[in-house]
Amino acid sequence: MTKFYQLTTSQRLQKLQEQGYLTASEVHLLQNSTALSETVGSHLIENYVGNFPLPLGLANHFVINSQDYLIPMVTEEPSVIAAASNAAQRMAYSGGITTRVQRLGINGQIVFQGELPDHAEFLQQHQAVIYQVAKQAHPTLLEHGGGLQDIQLQTYPGYVEFNLLIDPAAAMGANVVNTILEAVAHYLQQQLPQLRLLMAILSNHAPHQQAFAQARIDFQQLANEKMTGELVAQRIVAASDFAVLSPARAATHNKGIMNGVIAASLATGNDIRNVSAAVYAGLDDRQPLLTSWQLQGQQLVGKIKLNLPIGSVGGAISTLPLAQLALKILRQPTVADLMGIIASVGLASNLAALRALVTQGIQAGHMHLQWQSLALAAGAHANEIEQVVTYLDDHPQRASLQGAQKFLQQLRKDK
Ligand code: MEV
Repeated sequence: MTKFYQLTTSQRLQKLQEQGYLTASEVHLLQNSTALSETVGSHLIENYVGNFPLPLGLANHFVINSQDYLIPMVTEEPSVIAAASNAAQRMAYSGGITTRVQRLGINGQIVFQGELPDHAEFLQQHQAVIYQVAKQAHPTLLEHGGGLQDIQLQTYPGYVEFNLLIDPAAAMGANVVNTILEAVAHYLQQQLPQLRLLMAILSNHAPHQQAFAQARIDFQQLANEKMTGELVAQRIVAASDFAVLSPARAATHNKGIMNGVIAASLATGNDIRNVSAAVYAGLDDRQPLLTSWQLQGQQLVGKIKLNLPIGSVGGAISTLPLAQLALKILRQPTVADLMGIIASVGLASNLAALRALVTQGIQAGHMHLQWQSLALAAGAHANEIEQVVTYLDDHPQRASLQGAQKFLQQLRKDK
């Protein structure tokens, strides 16, 4: 049977239509660069001048909580989708990935300048009204199952901080949280004229919106021609242990995870600056890596924990037609499902990178895809790309933009 990656783009689209992932009009949408209309684009941002298309691909072979998924990913890095799919298949053969999610809310900070010696008493007296103000600021949030969950008051020399935990329901929460914070800040300023309001803003540190994923991979799924699966598994654990010791390596280890996390977050219309800020804010000297790898019996066990304050509705998620399409391909996941899916892509991306690094190295698998990028950058037309790639495969020492351009010139002369 022809594999998905072997199909042409139109064959893939036809297949997705046959399988019911896409309708004929959605195929048309993907085939035309008008996927984002001027009306949407120009109302979403200011100074709109057009769209900036990035490649959208589907990672396959993902089995998450016993469900098959095709995972939309947006990335310009050639090997990201192939790598995630490859590792997902190794995981799927060993039973797939399991996920768990904690979604308690987003923290917001209301910060005043000044001192409040009797702060505990103040909070006790005003707590009930603060809940009322929050409710009135966003009445529909309660209907969606969200709302203010907790209020903490902390003092620093010269500052007083009210920290509100707000459950944004299925949304990421930036708008609802900031709306509630500003309303509560206004109320608090009236009650505390001796203090000066400095700011009211959500925090991108999101320790209460966490996704966990785990996969157990049979040693035999990790073997290659030169190494047993057990040896590969031991080397993956060693690579991970080294990253704990070396901040230089930890940054790269985590970047490989973010290749998948960002690509899947972007495809589903989520705010990737927020995702990056939250994920990195969850790390510290005691826990410098997003994943951990261990040997258990005849298996390699991988775990990932991400602070992931994403949504499945609201903002760009509901506005961007292709984000809606991505959610449709994912079969309209709940926000908790989506958090688990994105964490799974991160875990698979990490396994793919570590396995490649500790076996044949990263370049061997990357090169074919890199040559395609180089051919495009050199100006190759669709019917010339394969010839340029073959040339670069055969002459890796000439693999530069100039080398590819020279070959193209020659190719066109010879025609
Ligand atoms: C490249 O985009 C990501 C890797 O460098 C990750 C890693 O080294 O773990 C391959």
